[in-house]
Amino acid sequence: MKKNLSPPFVTLFFVLSIFIWSCQDSYLPDTLSGDEPSLKKKTIVDLTPKEQLGKELFFDKISSPDKMSCADCHGPAVGFTGPVAGINMLGSVYRGAVPQRFGNRKPPSAAYATLSPVFYFDEDEGIFEGGNFWDGRATGEHLGNPAADQALGPFLNPVEQNNPSKAAVLMQIAESKYAGLWEEVWGESIDYSTPEEINKNYDRVGLAIAAYEASAEVNAFSSKFDYYLAMGEEEGILNEEEMWGMELFNGKAMCSLCHPSEPDEDCGDMPALFTDFTFDNLGVPRNPDNPFYLMDEVYLYGGTPINPQGAAWIDPGLGGFLEHHPNPAWQAMASENWGKHKVPTLRNVGKSSGNEFPKAYMHNGVFKSLKEVVHFYNTRDVESWPPPEVSQNVNTDELGNLGLTDAEEDAIVAFMETLSDGYVVAE
Ligand code: HEC
Ligand code: HEC
Repeated sequence: MKKNLSPPFVTLFFVLSIFIWSCQDSYLPDTLSGDEPSLKKKTIVDLTPKEQLGKELFFDKISSPDKMSCADCHGPAVGFTGPVAGINMLGSVYRGAVPQRFGNRKPPSAAYATLSPVFYFDEDEGIFEGGNFWDGRATGEHLGNPAADQALGPFLNPVEQNNPSKAAVLMQIAESKYAGLWEEVWGESIDYSTPEEINKNYDRVGLAIAAYEASAEVNAFSSKFDYYLAMGEEEGILNEEEMWGMELFNGKAMCSLCHPSEPDEDCGDMPALFTDFTFDNLGVPRNPDNPFYLMDEVYLYGGTPINPQGAAWIDPGLGGFLEHHPNPAWQAMASENWGKHKVPTLRNVGKSSGNEFPKAYMHNGVFKSLKEVVHFYNTRDVESWPPPEVSQNVNTDELGNLGLTDAEEDAIVAFMETLSDGYVVAE
């Protein structure tokens, strides 16, 4: 979480930090830009041509040799994260378009990702913030938005969609049903004959996908919680248990220290995202079923194993990204950030495609229910949990022994379940 500063400094740093902290509010859906709290109740959203193009790209199976799309790892029905129950139950890591190849982390939600600020070092707090990915390495420096930068990765990533080149991706788009839509959006047909054309058009792929990811269809802000905010407390939208859970979330359980439930006052119309975009090591245990541990026997072209460390691999999180960063000052901060992962949004954490549908939680998907997550925060230091995946930098201040009763844990879960988009108001 962010530390508190004494008031005179706050004003000074607030003024200074305006230049670094960018709220990405141009990525807010139009439905939210107004003075009135607005709640989108219709389920069908009118997409702009650019958003529609991004949607086509998001669902198109542009990959090799097997056919897979972004949505195969980021399914809308479960809040744009891993949509396959059998995978979530175990390793929680999805295989790419080459059947034997796996990445090493659980897919975070692709919703609300466009609203993350460009990755930066906050001088006054002394911590890193923003970016996309569990370790922040999709920084957003290239296209001005982390999710746009991120969208350029999976098509070419050998453990994801595995296309051989940018041109190969563009060629598939040129032959697709939506090539005409591309022309409408960008004012010219898709060309990939020179390196300049290739780079320009490949960036446009990222920008279109980010436009879809920023649309009201993906960043819907249509949960029961949003409805409650729009209608006001007195209306009784949240039931007693949910209200109690919210109180605990903001109080005794300290969740809101890292997952703020109030909008950031510097960010205008943007409703609470339930992340402060910082990084932390919670002492989450490893997930012994992570298929990445077996990737020492699977090789990329050129003969290097995907994971030379095999079962000894541990996830360095933010520290691993900083270790290889070109900025020496950031490199020097790798060790104090070892094992830290990005605070994820909690919007849609409870959204699933059925009552018994298991989801996986944390960067490695080791936990399988929200109850288990809350029980971990509550009892990490007083019950026998497996050791942390990374023992350095474990946060010992804000979790570990919260003294919550079983009923209090349940109430916090009930509150998190009000954060699922697509809440239908009973007539
Ligand atoms: C094989 C599964 C897979 C495919 C295919 C895939 N992703 Fe992901 N996605 C992941 C994983 C795993 C991560 C986290 C990686 C990490 O943190 O190192 C991720 C991270 C992301 C994030 C970052 C979210 C955040 O809050 O940090 C976004 C956005 C995203 N993916 C969008 C996409 C888009 C767009 C595509 C298609 C172009 C795509 N993904 C294809 C598995 C996948
Ligand atoms: C010190 C900051 C901090 C506090 C306090 C905190 N969280 Fe988190 N939360 C995180 C971080 C960081 C992660 C990701 C950790 C990882 O993957 O290793 C996370 C992950 C989660 C996830 C998993 C989401 C996903 O998509 O996998 C849930 C659910 C969650 N937190 C709920 C809560 C609740 C409920 C509380 C209060 C009981 C709470 N958090 C308190 C920082 C915090």
